Amino acid sequence: MKSKSTFTEKSDCLIIGSGVAGLSGAVYMGKKISVNIVTKSDLKESSSEKAQGGIACVTAARDSFSSHIADTLKAGDGLCREDIVREVVEDAPGRIDDLKKWGVEFTGGNSSPVLGREGGHSKRRILHHRDRTGEELIEKLCRKVKSKKSVKIFKNHTAVDINVKDGRCVGAYVLDNRTLKVKLFIAKVVIVATGGCGKAYLYTTNPDIATGDGISMARRAGCSIANMEFIQFHPTSLYSLKEKSFLITEAMRGEGAVLRNHSGRAFMKNYDKREDLAPRDIVARAIDREMKKEGVKHVYLDICGKKDPAFVKKRFPTIHSRLKSLGIDITKEYIPVVPSAHYSCGGICVDSSTRTSVKSLLVVGEAAHTGLHGANRLASNSLLEALVYARKAALEAQEQIDGLKYEDYPPWEYTGNKLPEEKVFIEQNWHSVRLLMWNYVGIVRSDYRLKEALKRLKVIEEEVSHYYWNYLITPSLVELRNLVDVARIIIKSAMKRKESRGLHYNIDHPQKSPKFKKDTVI
Ligand code: FAD
Ligand code: SIN
Repeated sequence: MKSKSTFTEKSDCLIIGSGVAGLSGAVYMGKKISVNIVTKSDLKESSSEKAQGGIACVTAARDSFSSHIADTLKAGDGLCREDIVREVVEDAPGRIDDLKKWGVEFTGGNSSPVLGREGGHSKRRILHHRDRTGEELIEKLCRKVKSKKSVKIFKNHTAVDINVKDGRCVGAYVLDNRTLKVKLFIAKVVIVATGGCGKAYLYTTNPDIATGDGISMARRAGCSIANMEFIQFHPTSLYSLKEKSFLITEAMRGEGAVLRNHSGRAFMKNYDKREDLAPRDIVARAIDREMKKEGVKHVYLDICGKKDPAFVKKRFPTIHSRLKSLGIDITKEYIPVVPSAHYSCGGICVDSSTRTSVKSLLVVGEAAHTGLHGANRLASNSLLEALVYARKAALEAQEQIDGLKYEDYPPWEYTGNKLPEEKVFIEQNWHSVRLLMWNYVGIVRSDYRLKEALKRLKVIEEEVSHYYWNYLITPSLVELRNLVDVARIIIKSAMKRKESRGLHYNIDHPQKSPKFKKDTVI
């Protein structure tokens, strides 16, 4: 007999995720709105917390909104929504003021912050906190959220599915990671802020939580997903056999660092006139090309030949000390770097108020597709997007909650009552998906590889589905199911786009085509 779960939590608003999008959404929410935040690990564990470079915002006298807009549109390679770009860029100074009010400190002091530069930006406009901007943001946001009596936090809770009744979202099923009980969370409005899906790839800058759960849950709930072929590969993550994933910020190239191949030659001038500060798609593909030419697994980033040691240590203290502990002194030695999966430019389709096609279901942050990034995100535009849209989501939620009542929903039904006898199958399938995506759906794609990838993924999908429906669910099983789902969406989106644009490069369709100047919707 199937057993039922009876644990119920209730709040006006349920926020799934505690990165910049989820936390700032909770901060922006009015005091009278009760909020439950569920987050699948520690409150701080997120891509947001790992952010190094900073937040793009026009503050300098010599900068302008029109310049930030033009840079964003150029990087987006024809697919950005110009109205959204304008709105986000013009909203940025207000959101930065909010951060300052909440205690965030920027390098150089909040009245005249020092501005960094990154690829694709024609001006210095990145506000940062040394090379640990994310830590600073998350620390201050956590403090703010914890001080709100209207907010209740559930750590180590993994949302499993979004519940929809008569076309309206009424809450979610959430797995308590420690007890393995599935609780029913009832809410008038749900905000998905679950971040990206970098873990679909073998090499990624993303933390373990980035398994595309929100995208997969929203698809099952009936939402449209757009532009998932545009996975951004960050050109410079550390190549190391000792370290799982560690980003070397683009801000380092902004301060003059150059990429060199194994012969010691600075190669970016052969690929783009902006050289090392070309947008990421161009730099990542150039590195891929150089590695293939030389038959090597990484290239080098050279800051030691460009800046004096005192500057390097002060500007990049986190990177300096982390690499020192791995035996690399960046003030004297080149850094071995390799591109790795970093950011999902596509996501769950939302309008400019964060609404999806399912009533009372809002989405913010990296999980959302707003139209800002187009075919390639401009560096440091994503923390900004998360902040701008988190505020919109809070306003939208407040407005909706006023006229809504709680809806009941059946408790979770356990379809299996025991854990899989062997954990090895989960490990095997996790690794298989990630390897498959890296080798077949990576920086450079082909029709044959995409077709093969889909075929091979089907086999994995069948096995994962068997375990999901016949055993007790665990956090890894939930994540694996979502990862496979997201991998399929990425492959199918890539198959639909029979051209090369922005981050999507297919050797069988190497040119851009006006026919495909539109979003891929799945
Ligand atoms: P995240 O910050 O990833 O948060 C997602 C949250 O959702 C986490 O709390 C997670 O636990 C939770 N979650 C996920 N699934 C579930 C589930 N099923 N149930 C419950 N909780 C769940 N962008 C910039 O603009 N500037 C930068 O300098 C920058 N640097 C970066 C450096 C690194 C190393 C990385 C990885 C990304 C960087 N980015 C940067 C991108 C940016 O950090 C992210 O796009 C942004 O932080 C995403 O915020 P988010 O709140 O949407 O998601
Ligand atoms: C970086 O610091 O290089 C990451 C910035 C970003 O992803 O926007």
